[in-house]
This record gives sequence, structure tokens and C-alpha cells, in this order.
Amino acid sequence: MTPEIIIAPSILAANFARLGEEITAIDAAGADWIHCDVMDGHFVPNISFGADVIKAIRPLTAKIFDVHLMIAPVDPYLEAFAKAGADIITVHAEAGAHLDRSLQAIRALGKKAGVSLCPATPEPAIEYVLDRVDLILVMTVNPGFGGQSFLGSQIEKIQRIRQMIGDRPIRLEVDGGVTRDNAGVVAAAGADALVAGSAVFRGKSTADYADNIAAIRVAAETGRVPKRQYASVVPAHANKGEFAR
Ligand code: DX5
Ligand code: ZN
Repeated sequence: MTPEIIIAPSILAANFARLGEEITAIDAAGADWIHCDVMDGHFVPNISFGADVIKAIRPLTAKIFDVHLMIAPVDPYLEAFAKAGADIITVHAEAGAHLDRSLQAIRALGKKAGVSLCPATPEPAIEYVLDRVDLILVMTVNPGFGGQSFLGSQIEKIQRIRQMIGDRPIRLEVDGGVTRDNAGVVAAAGADALVAGSAVFRGKSTADYADNIAAIRVAAETGRVPKRQYASVVPAHANKGEFAR
């Protein structure tokens, strides 16, 4: 059995003046996870929001909070994000010298651990932490801003990481410039979790968001690797359930 495709809208593209309503809308529109982009103006050239905002929106939905930390240093803040209600905490391989320690710390806090790679970082950077992660996030834009164009150079990296994962129960997530037009290629390369910001928060209503999420999902499901090949690298239990709250 192939894992179900996860669609994770990035709230970076939401209307921050109505953030609570936007969370409720994407929840009703069929989002699987809520992707929270945390930026510090140091690791990336932009500042977004922190643990207090995540804590404030946590009661509005029962969906998984997929928290993408684009901050350095990261270790001093892990506990705050865990307490705020993150379910998955993803750190960048480039954010510090001791990635293995950061990933251990996330699991010690009882959370799923993710590692992310910027476009210029080759996949061997995570070879020795594969048994410490529940999720690998491939950036398909340079992190810092929503609305950028998808970098096709990352497709080969996604394919290689899918091979590296082997039969480990690890989600392979793609983030940056994902649209209904490239979701099929991304899924065909081996990704099974797709982040989308501007492609989801287009239009105004829950119905618009639902159409956008559905279109990305259909494109990804259509493009995904045939079951016969995929079954050999993804265990049967690797469905949405492993991240259940
Ligand atoms: C970029 C963020 C992404 C971004 C996605 O640094 O990590 O999650 O908000 O936005 P789009 O889908 O608009 O590229
Ligand atoms: Zn992100």
C-alpha cells in the first residue's frame, strides 16, 4: 500500500489580520497538516512569527502542526515550540554544527523530528541522521519567502533521498513553489507530503481553498510512483496514521 499524499498549506501565505479564520478555513477545506514557517531574520532574510503565535492558533484545529524552523541557533527554542503545540518540528541541516543533537532533542520532547535541506545542500548531509528523523523536507526554493518559483534542480535530489530512505518510515516533504502544475512531478520523484502557500491561499473563501487543495492533491495522486515500485520502499504502515494527534 502506498502512503496517502499529505497536503500541508503554509500559513505564511494567510492573511495575518484574520489568522484564526484562515486556520479554520484551511481545516474545513481539507488540509491534512498545518505548515508553520518560523523565520528569524538571521538564518533567513525574513522574520515571520514565533512560538506564541503557534500557541494561540493551536486550539483552532485538531490537525497536525508541521513546524518548519528557519532559525539559528535552534536548540534553545525547541522546548518552546514543543510546548506551543507543534507535532512535527523540522530543523535545517545548515542551521547548526550539531544536527544529530538537535534531532535527538526533538524526539526527547516527544515530538516527530524533521530535517530540512536548502537547495544548495547535497543529500549526503543527512545520511548519518536517517534513523533519527520522521520527516525529510526538501526546499524547492531558497527559504525566506513565499511566492517564489519552484527550482527544478531539486527533483533529482528528491529521487535520491527517496532511495536513501529505503524502508524507513520517513515522510518526504517538498516545500516551495509547489502548485497544481508541478505537484505530479514532485510526487513522481518520491515526495509524499506537499507544502503549498500561495497556491492554496488563492481566492478568498473556504470553497476556493478547498478547490486549490483538491487540485494539488489530484495532481500529486495522479503523478505518484506506481504502487509496484513504491511498495518496495515504503512500509504498509506509512500512512497518515503515524502522525495522528
Ligand atoms: C519558504 C517557506 C515555504 C513557503 C511556501 O521559506 O518555507 O513554506 O512559505 O510558500 P509558496 O508555496 O508560496 O512557495
Ligand atoms: Zn516551510
